[in-house]
Amino acid sequence: MSSPALARLPVAQAVAVEAGHLMRRRFLDRDRIAYEFKGPQDYLTAVDGEVERLVRGRLAEAFPEDGFIGEEDGGSAAAWTWVVDPIDGTANFARGIGHFCISIALLGPQGIEVGVICQPVAGELMYAGRGTGAFLNGEPMRVSQTSAMVRASVELGWSPRRPAAAYLDLVGRVMATGAAFRRAGSGALGIADVAAGRSDGYAELHINAWDCLAGILLVREAGGWTNDFLAGNGLAAGNPIIACAPGIQAAFLAAVGPGGLAQEGRLH
Ligand code: IPD
Ligand code: CA
Repeated sequence: MSSPALARLPVAQAVAVEAGHLMRRRFLDRDRIAYEFKGPQDYLTAVDGEVERLVRGRLAEAFPEDGFIGEEDGGSAAAWTWVVDPIDGTANFARGIGHFCISIALLGPQGIEVGVICQPVAGELMYAGRGTGAFLNGEPMRVSQTSAMVRASVELGWSPRRPAAAYLDLVGRVMATGAAFRRAGSGALGIADVAAGRSDGYAELHINAWDCLAGILLVREAGGWTNDFLAGNGLAAGNPIIACAPGIQAAFLAAVGPGGLAQEGRLH
């Protein structure tokens, strides 16, 4: 715990737990959750902003020189930059489904340094520092050993930021391999599930940095593979994401790539 990045990991964990408690309390107080839409299928509740302000404030107290980029209120980068989604899976949160989380990542000069995801309904805290391995409530996480698509179960994220036909093509190509697929509505948790070995892969044609940076580090530290999400303008504009267990990398990439990620030129 000597590097500046790893010194920030316990703070990020404590902030994620505190934020998790807040959003769980609000979630259980269901009658008070109202939602609106930022755009088509893009849910927003007052709790998204409330949680982001809490996290921004706590991290600024601890590390006033750090940058902060949040899904709701934006921000700017610095030498060390926190990239935060206060509630990932807002549609689930708003509609009473307990599959959502807070995602906190720290970016430094060498890429993603810290990733922390708290799923408060399940009581799960997942975290990693670069080079530390990945952990779920203190226990090491490892990606699955799955090596055949006919035994694989993957998640294919969706948002209206890409055409419906492109998503349906992606689903068709992945199903043609014999893999099972699902969409559960939280990109961060979908990627974290790969790290935990609960799922063998996650792909989405476009995702934002706050949804996926923490999960990417979890997957890499749990022995999995991801594309270079930050290539090009990934931090500001998002990119495709693909994360998977190494045993299905070639087959999953072949299925996802041709009409999806490869076309966008963001696979490395
Ligand atoms: C969305 C969710 C969804 C993913 C989208 C994200 P939000 O974030 O992670 O699963 O497919 O790309 O925008 O709106 O729940 O914060
Ligand atoms: Ca999100």
